[in-house]
Amino acid sequence: MPAFVINNHGGDTPDFDGEITFYVIVCVFLTAFGGLMFGYDLGISGGVTAMDDFLKEFFKEVYEKKQHVHENNYCKYDNHVLQLFTSSLYIAALLASFVASKVCTQMGRKPTMQIASLFFIIGVGLQAGSVSIEMIVCGRITLGIGVGFANQAVPLFLSELAPAKMRGALNICFQLFITIGIFVAGIINYFTSDIHPHGWRISLSLAMVPAVILLCGSLTICETPTSLIERRNFIKGKATLKKIRGTDNVTAEFESIVNASETARQIKNPFSTLLKPSSRPPLIIAILLQVFQQFTGINAIMFYAPVFFQTVGFGNNASLLSTVITGLVNVFSTLVSIYMVDRVGRRILLLEACVQMFLTQTVIGLILLTDLKPTGSWNHAEALIVVILVCVFVMGFAWSWGPLGWLIPSEIFPLEIRTTGFAFAVSSNMLFTFIIAQAFLSMLCHMRAGIFFFFAVWILVMGLLTHFFLPETKGVPIDAMVEKVWKQHWFWKRYMVDVDDEVIKEQVHPHVKYVKYGF
Ligand code: BGC
Repeated sequence: MPAFVINNHGGDTPDFDGEITFYVIVCVFLTAFGGLMFGYDLGISGGVTAMDDFLKEFFKEVYEKKQHVHENNYCKYDNHVLQLFTSSLYIAALLASFVASKVCTQMGRKPTMQIASLFFIIGVGLQAGSVSIEMIVCGRITLGIGVGFANQAVPLFLSELAPAKMRGALNICFQLFITIGIFVAGIINYFTSDIHPHGWRISLSLAMVPAVILLCGSLTICETPTSLIERRNFIKGKATLKKIRGTDNVTAEFESIVNASETARQIKNPFSTLLKPSSRPPLIIAILLQVFQQFTGINAIMFYAPVFFQTVGFGNNASLLSTVITGLVNVFSTLVSIYMVDRVGRRILLLEACVQMFLTQTVIGLILLTDLKPTGSWNHAEALIVVILVCVFVMGFAWSWGPLGWLIPSEIFPLEIRTTGFAFAVSSNMLFTFIIAQAFLSMLCHMRAGIFFFFAVWILVMGLLTHFFLPETKGVPIDAMVEKVWKQHWFWKRYMVDVDDEVIKEQVHPHVKYVKYGF
C-alpha cells in the first residue's frame, strides 16, 4: 500500500511527462464529432428554411409572401413560427446543459456523450419524418437536449484528455468540427435543394451521421482520468493516464489530479461557491464572452445566410453556394486560430477581430442602406461585394470570438467550480443563440440595414471591454489563474480578497497532505 504526497495546488503546473499519443488523437477525433453534430445543425436549418418544398409543407404563409419577392425585400421571411423552428433547439439546449453538468460529474463524460447522441438520433428521426409543425418542433427540442449534453461534455473531455501544453490546440478541435459541420451542411443543402419534394428531409436526416459516429465513438473511447479519479476510481484512473500519455511515469500528473479533485470534493455546493466574490471575475468574463460571441451577429449570418443572400438579390442556388463559400472561409480561418492562439495570445486575436468585424458590419450596413430599397433588387457586382464582406467578417470571427468563446471559459475557473461555471457559459451561449435566431428575421424586417449598425455598435462595446477587462491567459498554467491572472489584474484583483482569507484558514491545516488509498 504505497503512500503518495499531494501538494496543495496553486503555483506553476509542473511539466508532466508524456506526449500526445495516437490513442489521444483517435479519441479527440471521435468525440469532436459532438462539435460536428452541433455545427451541422447550425448550418442546415438556414438552408432548409429557404427551400420552397419545406415552406409549402409547413409554412404556407411564408411561401406565399416569398412569391411576391419585389413586395418587400427585408420582410419576406419574417414569420415567428419559422423562427421558432430554428431557435427552439437552443432553449432546450440551455436547460439541458445544467442537467448535463450534473450527469458529467456523477456519471462521467462518456455516458454524457452517449446520452447526447441518443437524444440527437431520436430528434433527427422526428424532424426528418415530420408530418406536422408540432412534430418538427418536438424534433428540434429533442435535438436541443442532445446539443446541450454534447456541448457540456465534449469540450470538458478534450481539455481533460489533452496534455497541459497542448490544451489550447486540442480544445479548438471542437470549434474546428463545428465549422466543418456548418460547411458540410451548406454543401448538402446546395444539392438537396434540387431534389423535389423531399430534399429537405434528406438534409435533416443526414444529421444522423455525426450522432451515430459520436455514439459508436463514445463506446470505444476511454473515460477521462479526471472523471475516474473524481468518482474515486483511482486504479483505473492511473491506468488510463498511463495509456493516454504513453508512459508509465505519470505519478506527478496523477497526484495533481487527485489533489485537485480532493479540493473540489470539499465544495458541497458549487452554485453557492460561484456567488463568492472571488468567483465573480471568471464567471462574468465567461458569460460575457459567450454573450458577446453571439452579439457579433455571427449566427445571423450562419442561420440565415441563404435567406440573407436571397434578400440581397441572389437566386436560390447562388445563395446556397455563397453559404458554402463562407463555410469554407470559416473552417480555414479556425485553423489559423489553432496555430496562433498559443503564440500571439487571446487578447490580440479578439481585439484585431473586433476592428475587422466592426468595419465589415458597418460597410455592409452602408451598402444596404444606400443601394437596397425595400422593393428594389441588386446587380451581381453589388451582391458579390456583400459576399466578400461577409467572408472577411466570418474570417475575423473564426480566428477569435468563435474558438475563444469556448476556450477561455474552459481555462479561467479554478477546478472546484470549473464544470458548474462552464455550464453557465454553455447556457449563456444557447440563450443568446436563441435570442438572435428568434429575433433576426424580424429585426431585418423592421430595422432593415440598421441591423448591421446594431451589431457594429455591439462589436465596438465588446472591443472596449476586452481591452480594459479581459486578462491575457496565454501560457498561464490552468491552476495558477488566481495567482497569476486575477490577483494581478488592475480591476479584478479587488474581488480576490476572500481567496486570501482562505489561505489564512488553510494555514491551520498542514500545507502538505499525506493521503493513503487502498492500492
Ligand atoms: C458559435 C456558434 C457559431 C459558430 C460559427 C461557434 O463558436 O458558438 O454560435 O455558429 O461558432 O462557426
